[in-house]
Amino acid sequence: MSKYNTYNHVFLNVLKPTAINEYVPLPEFEEKGVSLYLKREDLVFPLASGNKWRKLKYNFKDLKTSPATGMLTFGGAYSNHLAAAAVMAAQEQILIIGIVRGEELTTKPLNPTLSQCQAKGMQLVFVSRAEYKLKEHGEKARQLVTTKNLLVVPEGGTNKLAVKGCMEILTNDDIRFDVVGCAVGTGGTLAGLAASAAAHQKVVGFQMVNDTTIPDCIRTFVSRDNWELIRHPSYAGYANIDKRLVAFANELIEKTGVLLDPIYTAPMLFQLVQMIKDNTWTFGTNILLIHTGGTQGIAGYNYQYQAQWPES
Ligand SMILES: Cc1ncc(COP(=O)(O)O)c(C=O)c1O
Repeated sequence: MSKYNTYNHVFLNVLKPTAINEYVPLPEFEEKGVSLYLKREDLVFPLASGNKWRKLKYNFKDLKTSPATGMLTFGGAYSNHLAAAAVMAAQEQILIIGIVRGEELTTKPLNPTLSQCQAKGMQLVFVSRAEYKLKEHGEKARQLVTTKNLLVVPEGGTNKLAVKGCMEILTNDDIRFDVVGCAVGTGGTLAGLAASAAAHQKVVGFQMVNDTTIPDCIRTFVSRDNWELIRHPSYAGYANIDKRLVAFANELIEKTGVLLDPIYTAPMLFQLVQMIKDNTWTFGTNILLIHTGGTQGIAGYNYQYQAQWPES
């Protein structure tokens, strides 16, 4: 296991409603006549970067006009969604409670993600994996929702309002691309892209979690058939970070200055590079990949695996 380097990246700290498209000059692509741009959603609002800001925006707006007194949401110990929700709630001065998977975490020091959530004022409630599975029907969640009158936002933030937010990712300037790609966890981001893509565009989702319900989840939000999910287990991905992936991400930083996260965006690009090299990519040569952020997860990755690195 090798260390995922952080990069002294200069984020735009101005809130930008649309993200820039950045050309990624990779020789593997240029040799095959493939052009790749990254839509830098990660720069739109760095602390709640990328799709998280898009997914939460209308949920927070809705909350502000509803009788609810705060938000209750869910996530794992390194959740980008929890981190983003905590930042946005602090900004909007809204009460937020995060139900976190794993009651064993109660007695452990907080990892970088959870420390950030707590520093932003999120109240963390640790529950067993069995209770976590029940989500808002779990005992603690039910108690909190009824006693405090909270708006429930699902794990990963995916709901109708999240999809509405993700429909704002693509702009008229993106019509020149024939393929739009994104990493997929719950499918909400892909649903928004598919719902808003131009008629000639194919939306390709790089599925990072082993969950057979994702296509059905996407279909509840979008009735078009302009999208496809791809998943190749040997190309790493969620919780399957290997040396090749980390070396790839670190090399990309050196070559292009683009920082990807270890769970979603680095595996997505890694898989695309492999497919282009193997000639198994059949979706088109003018590609726009969405950088959905998540780089807060790098600190968590380094925290989790630090014992395994040789001294450098
Ligand atoms: C960085 C990043 N990219 C992609 C995704 C996947 O998004 P979705 O759950 O909408 O499929 C997530 C999860 O929220 C994420 O944190």
